[in-house]
Amino acid sequence: MRKITKIDIVTRPNKLDELKEAMNGIGVQGMTVSQVYGCGLQKGHTEVYRGQEYHINLVPKIKVEIVVCEVPTERVIETAQRVLRTGQVGDGKIFVYNVENAVRIRTGVEGDAAIMDEK
Ligand SMILES: Nc1ncnc2c1ncn2[C@@H]1O[C@H](COP(=O)(O)OP(=O)(O)OP(=O)(O)O)[C@@H](O)[C@H]1O
Ligand SMILES: [Mg+2]
Repeated sequence: MRKITKIDIVTRPNKLDELKEAMNGIGVQGMTVSQVYGCGLQKGHTEVYRGQEYHINLVPKIKVEIVVCEVPTERVIETAQRVLRTGQVGDGKIFVYNVENAVRIRTGVEGDAAIMDEK
């Protein structure tokens, strides 16, 4: 069985469309997107969102969760950085995890086959 990896990308909401397109372009098959609130090193204080400075320490972000086996993890990480890096604080973070298993509920297929195209 091929290795399955999960990549979580937490970044600016206004980057979602561009990120989606770029991931589609490298063959990513699925993703889960959530609207979240977060902060990093600056505790949210120096980030500006829609022209307003937030004095509270949680800033709106999106979290994009992607599970891959065929598309190389490095490819996903490089592509995300290319799209998301502005050089300003708050560009976001990428977290990488090993995935133990995956199940496609409709067929009961497990493992890497559960997240690949059906033949
Ligand atoms: N250690 C962490 N644990 C969990 N989530 C985090 C962590 N660091 C950052 N995040 C999430 O990532 C989002 C973006 O973080 P952010 O880009 O501000 O990180 P940073 O470390 O402060 O880097 P930068 O200096 O570029 O701002 C945060 O709003 C939060 O949702
Ligand atoms: Mg920060």
